[in-house]
Amino acid sequence: MTTAVLRPHAEDEYAAELAALATADDRPRPSSWRLSPQAVVTYLLGGVTADGTEISAKYVGPRRLMEVAVATLATDRALLLLGVPGTAKTWVSEHLAAAISGDSTLLVQGTAGTSEESIRYGWNYARLIAEGPSEQAIVESPVLRAMRDGKIARLEELTRIPADVQDTLITILSEKTLPVPELNTETQARPGFNMIATANNRDKGVNELSSALRRRFNTVVLPLPDSADAEVEIVSRRVAQLGRSLELPAEAAALSEIRRVVTVFRELRSGRTEDGRTAVKTPSGTLSTAEAISVLTGGLALAAHFGDGVLRPHDVAAGILGAVVKDPVADRAIWVEYLETVVRERDGWADFYRAGQEIAGR
Ligand SMILES: Nc1ncnc2c1ncn2[C@@H]1O[C@H](COP(=O)(O)OP(=O)(O)OP(=O)(O)O)[C@@H](O)[C@H]1O
Ligand SMILES: [Mg+2]
Repeated sequence: MTTAVLRPHAEDEYAAELAALATADDRPRPSSWRLSPQAVVTYLLGGVTADGTEISAKYVGPRRLMEVAVATLATDRALLLLGVPGTAKTWVSEHLAAAISGDSTLLVQGTAGTSEESIRYGWNYARLIAEGPSEQAIVESPVLRAMRDGKIARLEELTRIPADVQDTLITILSEKTLPVPELNTETQARPGFNMIATANNRDKGVNELSSALRRRFNTVVLPLPDSADAEVEIVSRRVAQLGRSLELPAEAAALSEIRRVVTVFRELRSGRTEDGRTAVKTPSGTLSTAEAISVLTGGLALAAHFGDGVLRPHDVAAGILGAVVKDPVADRAIWVEYLETVVRERDGWADFYRAGQEIAGR
C-alpha cells in the first residue's frame, strides 16, 4: 500500500472491483478498452460479477443514460455530459475514464483563462532556448497524452473556455490528430482515444458551444434525482463513504436526518411541499444533491467533534442555512417564511424548527 492520500483516484479506490470485472468479462472490448461496454455500465450502476464479486453503484439514475454515454465513447463522437450543478457530471466522467482506460487523471480544467497550450502542448522554454524546438522540448497536455496512449481525456467545464480556444478541439475530435507545425510533425490518436467533456446548464451563455464543436459531441443530460427516495439513497451512500474516508468518529448519519435534509432541499428547489399542498418560495442557490451531501458531512463533523457523535437537527441546521441563504436579504426571508409556514407545522420536526430559528437569529 502506498502512502494515504486524501482522495484516491477512482481507478485506485475501486481497483479491486475493476480487476474483478476485467476477469469475469468475456464480451468483446473496443481496442485499448480495459472492459467491455457492458462491464463499464455494471461498474457504474453496480451489480455482481460472474464470480460473485459485489460491484458498488457509483451512479444512481437511469441505466439507459449510462448505456448511451458508454456506447458514445466507443464511437468516433465525443461525450458531453450536461446538467445543472451537482448532478454527478464530474463524478461520472471520472468513473468512466477509470473503467475504460484505467486512468482518470488526463484532465483539463476549463476556465476563462484556459489557453490553447493546455489543450494542445506547450514548450519547456529553457530547453526551447537551449536546443531549439524538438520533441524533448514539448510539454504535452493531458489531451495529447490521451491521444498518444489511446485513453480517455477529460475536459471539465467546457463552456467556460473561450470560444476560440474551444475550437482547438475541432481538429482533435474530427481528424483525431494534433499537428505540431513547429516540428513539422503530428500526433495521431491511437484507438481508445476519446473525450468526455462536462458543462453546466447554469454557465449557458457564458461561452456557447460553437455548432461546429457541438456536432462532434453526443450530449447526455444528467437529470436531478426524480424521486425523494432516489435522492436519499445517493446522499446516504456518499455521506457514509465520505464519513469513512474523513475518519469522522461519528455514528452513521441517521436516515431520518438525511431524509429531512433531502426533503427541505427538494421542497425549496421545486417551490412546493412534498404533499403538493403548499407553495414555497425558491431561494437563489441551486440546492443540489452535492450540497445536501456537504450539509450532512458537515453536520457529522459537528456531531463528532462538538456533540455526542450522534447527528441531530441542530447539527444540520447551520449547513442548511448556508446552502439556502446565498443572498443575505432575500434568501433569509424565504428561509424564515419556510420555517414558519412549513417546518413549524410538521410532525416530528419541532427540534429542527427550534434549531432553524436559533441559527437564523430569531
Ligand atoms: N445521480 C447520482 N448518483 C450518484 N452520485 C450522485 C448523483 N448525483 C449527485 N451525486 C453526488 O454528488 C456529488 C457531486 O457531483 P459532481 O461534482 O460530479 O457534480 P457536477 O454535476 O460535476 O456539478 P458541477 O456542475 O457543480 O460541476 C458527487 O459526490 C456524487 O457522488
Ligand atoms: Mg463538475
